[in-house]
Formats: sequence, structure tokens, C-alpha cells
Amino acid sequence: MKIDKSPETIHKMFNSVAQRYDSLNNLMSFGTHNYVKYMSIKNLDIKPHDSVLDLCCGTGDLARIVKKIQPEAHVTGIDFSEKMLEIAVSKNPNIPARQVKYIQGDVTDLPYDNNSFDFVTMGFGLRNISNAEKAVEEAYRVLRPQGCFLHLDFGKKNIVSKIYDKTTPLLIRLASGNSISYSYLINSKKIFPLPEELIKDFESKGFKLKKREDYLLGVISAQIMTK
Ligand SMILES: C[S@@+](CC[C@H](N)C(=O)[O-])C[C@H]1O[C@@H](n2cnc3c(N)ncnc32)[C@H](O)[C@@H]1O
Repeated sequence: MKIDKSPETIHKMFNSVAQRYDSLNNLMSFGTHNYVKYMSIKNLDIKPHDSVLDLCCGTGDLARIVKKIQPEAHVTGIDFSEKMLEIAVSKNPNIPARQVKYIQGDVTDLPYDNNSFDFVTMGFGLRNISNAEKAVEEAYRVLRPQGCFLHLDFGKKNIVSKIYDKTTPLLIRLASGNSISYSYLINSKKIFPLPEELIKDFESKGFKLKKREDYLLGVISAQIMTK
């Protein structure tokens, strides 16, 4: 299966779904994505004043959860879709110390020095990047030694996952009248490596596996890697 993952196409697609992204995520996952995101961040044991970079932050779910769990952390979210970022920024609280800093940028070319962050996170992002290897290399480069990289995305391709693949486009069509972007989601999910393959890819870039956590019968998987 060939999918167009050129940065231009992906950028345009996320800009066009940005307004509906959160509500469709809630619908497609029956709200469970919030639980999975919360649990995977909780696993990281982020301390006050730790620095956290959320790659492909989108509308800011993971970055906000970090701030909720550890309000004293310094959190930056980066994404190339200005429309997704507009929504993320609009969700920042009024108190400056409680805010996430959002930056527009490409995660395959991060504007940070080597070893800059204690944690790097990425949820449901890598699957959309044509040069995924470069994004992983960049995550490794900006992470400090012994820091943690959390990668979260779809995992096992089991019966639950297959039911999801069949029902999602239908749900989206009923809810929004447009299933084009979400057919992309299903197709990108089908060709995305399994968690065990991803771990090998991450290890080939220098990461070491700290922990793997599977959620929702393995449909979603988190890999926590150290540098
Ligand atoms: C499926 S969304 C995930 C958003 C968020 N992390 C979440 O869990 O809801 C994928 C995001 O990756 C962003 N993205 C894709 N390729 C990117 C790249 N090369 N650089 C920066 N952002 C990128 C898209 O703009 C989009 O906001």
C-alpha cells in the first residue's frame, strides 16, 4: 500500500482537520485516548523543573497532561501545523506558569541544541512522517544522556484493532460527512511497524528500552526508551 506522506500533504491535511480533530478523536476512541495519554505520561515520573519536549504536539493533549501531572515542568510542544497549534494555544490557561510553550517547526529538523531536554514525547506522530528515521535521530539528539523518550501510537494488529479499522471511517462519515483524512489514518496505521519492530528501530538509533506498556488490549502501545 502506497500512502502520500509528503510533508506538504500531511501539513495540509492536519490544517484542514484541526477544528474537528479533538472531537473526532474523542468519538473514534470513545474517549479512551485521554486515559491512555494520561497513563503513559504518568509512567515517566517527571520531576519539578524537568524539561519536556512534545514532538508533533497537535492540539497539545500530551503537553497539557505533563503540566497537569507535573505543573513545575518546563514543557514545549512543537508541530508544523499552525492550525493545530492555534487550538493548542487557545487551551493554555491564563496563568503564565501553567502554560505550555508552543513552537511551529518540523520535527525532522529540531531548532534545539544536543542534549537539551530531560524528556521527549511523541504521540501518534511518527506514523505521519515520511522521513521517520530522521525524526527519531532528532529525538535522540536533543534528549540528554539518561533522559527518556516516550513514543505512543497504535500497537498490536489484533481483532479489536481490525474492528476499529472497519468502524472508524463509518463513524467519521456519520459525524462529519467526510472520511477522506480518516481513511488515511486507517491506511497509515496498517503499514506502521509493530511495537517490537519500532523498539528495534529506536535501538538502532542508540536508544535503550526501559519499558513497554500496552493499553486497551494492546491496541495502543507505549515504548519508553532511554538515551
Ligand atoms: C495525529 S496528530 C497527533 C497530535 C497529538 N500528539 C495527539 O496525540 O493528539 C499528528 C501531528 O503530527 C504533526 N506532524 C506531522 N509531521 C510533522 C513534522 N514533520 N513536523 C512537525 N509536526 C508534524 C501534524 O501536524 C499533527 O498535528
